[in-house]
Amino acid sequence: MARYRNIVVLTGAGISAESGVATFRDAGGLWEQHRIEDVATPDAFQRDPDLVQGFYNQRRAQLFTVDPNPAHIALGKLEQLLDGTVTVVTQNVDNLHERGGSKNIIHMHGELSKVRCRHCSIVVEWLEDCTQETRCPNCSDAPALRPHIVWFGEMPFDMERIESLLYACDLFVSVGTSGNVYPAAGFVSAVRSTGVAHTIEINLEPSEGASYFAETRHGKAGDLVPALVDELLE
Ligand code: APR
Repeated sequence: MARYRNIVVLTGAGISAESGVATFRDAGGLWEQHRIEDVATPDAFQRDPDLVQGFYNQRRAQLFTVDPNPAHIALGKLEQLLDGTVTVVTQNVDNLHERGGSKNIIHMHGELSKVRCRHCSIVVEWLEDCTQETRCPNCSDAPALRPHIVWFGEMPFDMERIESLLYACDLFVSVGTSGNVYPAAGFVSAVRSTGVAHTIEINLEPSEGASYFAETRHGKAGDLVPALVDELLE
């Protein structure tokens, strides 16, 4: 394998599946059990904030019942040992990359372990339940706190920084994402437009965008990511 010095790894729900976190669009996935328009849009929050807070409280509580798997841990090792830069751009809102040892992480869809005040805009670490009665620790307002999550119809975080990383990388790896949701689904095309970077998809099955990748490896992230990391560090 060529020597890569500037690696961007895009991750989706599939990388956390072997840790026991449900994906969105697989059989039995979250969007089979809940309607997006009931729990994951600004309108849903306005209409029924208790339902939406409850949905995210449940998912936040789940963080305490899951652990990083070999794929998260391998990416942490890659960042630590590569003679170069590794950035994980994740669509996941769990904290398994941090717990797997990665430090250079962009949570483009937000983080379950944070809430944001709609009045004073502060973003704070939050590992407990959050309700409409919970007061903002900064401005004391209530109801004011919302999950620090990018809902459908909202702009993902850090897009400018992500774009510059995509145009500058020499290897782009996508792990465990179905390629259904933009802008992440378009990242591979942006990378390929530079004509210099190699692109690899790792997914259980070919994603919607599999044909855009120069190389595809299909199987479990927990097996394939550690194998790729070993090749990259050889
Ligand atoms: N290893 C590798 N891939 C896996 C594994 C596994 N063990 N298990 C499942 N997958 C693959 C599935 O085959 C599927 O293609 O992971 C992908 C998960 O796809 P989605 O459920 O659509 O999740 P994701 O692509 O992350 O969704 C993107 O959609 O609803 C929004 O905001 C939500 O961030 C999410 C975004």
